[in-house]
Amino acid sequence: MSVLLEARGVIKEFRSAAGLPGRRTAAFQAVAGVDLQVNRGETLALVGESGSGKTTLARCLMRLVEPTAGEIRFDGRDLRALPAAALRAERRRFQMVFQDPHSSLNPRLRIGSMLAEPIRVHRLRPRAEIAARVAELLELVGLPPTAAAQYPHEFSGGQRQRLGIARALATEPELLVADEPVSALDVSIRAQIVNLLVALQRRYGLALLFITHDLALVEHLADRVAVMYRGRIVEEAPNAALFATPRHPYTRALLRAVPRVRPASAGEGLREADPGASGAEDAVVSGGCAYRPRCDRASARCAREIPLLVPPAGAHRYACFHPLDPETDRNFSPREP
Ligand SMILES: Nc1ncnc2c1ncn2[C@@H]1O[C@H](COP(=O)(O)OP(=O)(O)OP(=O)(O)O)[C@@H](O)[C@H]1O
Ligand SMILES: [Mg+2]
Repeated sequence: MSVLLEARGVIKEFRSAAGLPGRRTAAFQAVAGVDLQVNRGETLALVGESGSGKTTLARCLMRLVEPTAGEIRFDGRDLRALPAAALRAERRRFQMVFQDPHSSLNPRLRIGSMLAEPIRVHRLRPRAEIAARVAELLELVGLPPTAAAQYPHEFSGGQRQRLGIARALATEPELLVADEPVSALDVSIRAQIVNLLVALQRRYGLALLFITHDLALVEHLADRVAVMYRGRIVEEAPNAALFATPRHPYTRALLRAVPRVRPASAGEGLREADPGASGAEDAVVSGGCAYRPRCDRASARCAREIPLLVPPAGAHRYACFHPLDPETDRNFSPREP
């Protein structure tokens, strides 16, 4: 499988408490050194609690914000080294679908103009064919061609997210980054939008980076999963392996917080406390493993050293000195009858 997007050592620092009297500005790393690959055509889910840095990482990858450090390669080319014109051209190939379909569409633009613009800018169709292409894009996302003459406010939340997807597809991208694309929508229509994304991803062989809190959704659609905690990837694995044999204690805590339909034979409780609601998230951790205040396996080493992802070249990697044992700490298998 070939790598489409590759991030190495990505750091994004924010300065907090700037200008407060008596306080020095502290640099805070929302993304604290992330290595990540997205392969062509795959769906990679990025999960982790609120504030773990998922959106910030995605925005760095998309070059919507400038990372403080690190390298981001798309199809082998270093995006940070590209001159502005080349970056604009390259942008066609990776597009983002945003969480909030209300604020992400320009209210003053008719849908037809909104969809035509990227086609024109990137010269993807001759002038005379643009209107037909706009109708085609609308059809792809399940909207009638008459939508082209309307304004965003005339559509429901779910329809607006369909429009957001159509706009992302207008440039014929190879990578789609969807940041919580359904969490702002009514529960009743989330599945439709997810199914639409998955259908389009398969149809065009798109790589999809899907950011979500919803692990049930992840299990349903991801090829691989990356778990983020406090700015770092703490575990990365093929879907089935992550759910069946999580190695990082945080991943297991996340999995246990999800209400699931389990095989009766598993004989476990259905739900445990949400690991994000423990109160421990306020603990300030400097040096060592950021998860250790919440971790029942933490040792002196965890306070001294930051665990790196191991094994370095493995498909299933985890950043933990005391990983769960895949035999004795086995989770239920989601594929078991
Ligand atoms: N522009 C900014 N300036 C300062 N701090 C920021 C900025 N953007 C994000 N942060 C901080 O960086 C951290 C990571 O935020 P981010 O939005 O990336 O998390 P997230 O994983 O996407 O969370 P959520 O699941 O709630 O969307 C948070 O502590 C947030 O407050
Ligand atoms: Mg976010």
